[in-house]
Amino acid sequence: MKILVTGGLGFIGSHTVVELQNQGFDVIIVDDLSNTSLEVLDGISNITGKIPAFEKLDLREKNKVQDFFNRHHDISGVIHFAASKAVGESVGNPLLYYENNLNSLIYILQELQKKEEASFIFSSSCTVYGQAEKMPITEDALVQAAMSPYGNTKQIGEEIIIDTAKVTNINAILLRYFNPIGSHPSAEIGELPLGVPQNLVPFITQTGMGLRKELSVYGNDYPTSDGTAVRDYIHVVDLAKAHVIALQRLLDKKNIEKVETFNLGTGTGSSVLEVIHAFEKVSGQKLPYKLVDRRAGDVIEAYANTDKANTILGWKAESTLEEGMDSAWKWEQKVRKAK
Ligand code: WQD
Repeated sequence: MKILVTGGLGFIGSHTVVELQNQGFDVIIVDDLSNTSLEVLDGISNITGKIPAFEKLDLREKNKVQDFFNRHHDISGVIHFAASKAVGESVGNPLLYYENNLNSLIYILQELQKKEEASFIFSSSCTVYGQAEKMPITEDALVQAAMSPYGNTKQIGEEIIIDTAKVTNINAILLRYFNPIGSHPSAEIGELPLGVPQNLVPFITQTGMGLRKELSVYGNDYPTSDGTAVRDYIHVVDLAKAHVIALQRLLDKKNIEKVETFNLGTGTGSSVLEVIHAFEKVSGQKLPYKLVDRRAGDVIEAYANTDKANTILGWKAESTLEEGMDSAWKWEQKVRKAK
C-alpha cells in the first residue's frame, strides 16, 4: 500500500511517516520545504531504517500536482498535512493562506476523484470550534465563525471535502487536533524551530535554553483555576498513531459515513502555568516568565471530549503532559547542541 503524505517533512507529518513505516506502509512524501528541511528525511530513516521516497512539490502548481499523480498511479491513500499554519501570520497575509491551504487541497482532490476509490485523511484543528460553549468539546459542537484566516481555511477545507466526498469515490476522515507538543523519544525528529516560536511549548524550551530572555504569559485574568488559559496538549507521537489508525479504517472500508470527524486530544485541560510547572519539573530548572495582557484571538479554554476517537477508532492518547514536555526539552537540547 503506497501512501502519499503531503507536508510529510513537517512536525506532525514526519512523526506520522515514522508510524506509517512502522506499520509496513510504503510512503512517499511531498513537501515544498518552505517550513522544514531535507535533514528531516535522515531523522525519519534513523528511526525506522527506511528512507521514504520524497519529491519536492509546490501543491499550488496544478500541472505539477497532475504530473505527480500521473507518475504515481498506485497511491491508495493520502494524508494531507501540507498547509501554512501560523495563526498570526494568516491575519496579516490572508491570500497566502487561502491560496496555499485551499488550492493545494482542491488540486489533490481533483486527482483523487479520478480513482476507483481513495482514502483521504485531513489535518484539521480544534480552532474550528472557536470558544466552544461546553467543555470538554465534542465533535458535534458548533463550528463557529473562524477567529483567523488560518482557522477559516480549515473550516472551508472540511466543507470542500464533505461536498466532494458526496459525489465521488473519496472517503475521508477529518482529524481535529488540539495542541500538539513534544517530539519522538529518539530525539531524531521534532518541531523545527524556524524564527520566533508562536506556540507555547517551543517558546518555553527555547527560554529554558537561554535563547529567549523570558516567557510572556498571555493573560492571567481568565476565568480558569489559576487565571491562565487552558488547552489540551497532546503528544505528537500519540497524534501520529491516530492518523495511521484512521487511514487503516478507510482502507479496510470500516467507515460508516463517507466523511467522519474525530477530535484528537488527551481529554484533559492544562493551564499555561501548569505547562510551565511541568517544564520546571522535567528540566529541574526554574523558567523565567512574566504575566502580560491577553493575546488577541485566544480562547479561554479548549480541551477535547475523546469518547468518539476512543470508542470508534479504538485510539487513546497515552503520554502525559510531563512526558510531552520531557521529549520537547530533550529535542531542544539536541537541536541546540547540533548548532
Ligand atoms: C497555547 C496557550 C496562549 C505562547 C494554536 C493554533 C491551533 C494549533 C495550535 C495549528 C495559549 C499561551 C502561547 C506564548 C503564552 N495550530 N501562550 N505565551 O493558540 O492554543 O493554538 O496552535 O493547527 O490551530 O490556534 O497554541 O501554543 O500558541 O498557545 O502564554 O509565548 O499558551 O495564550 O493560551 P493555541 P499556542
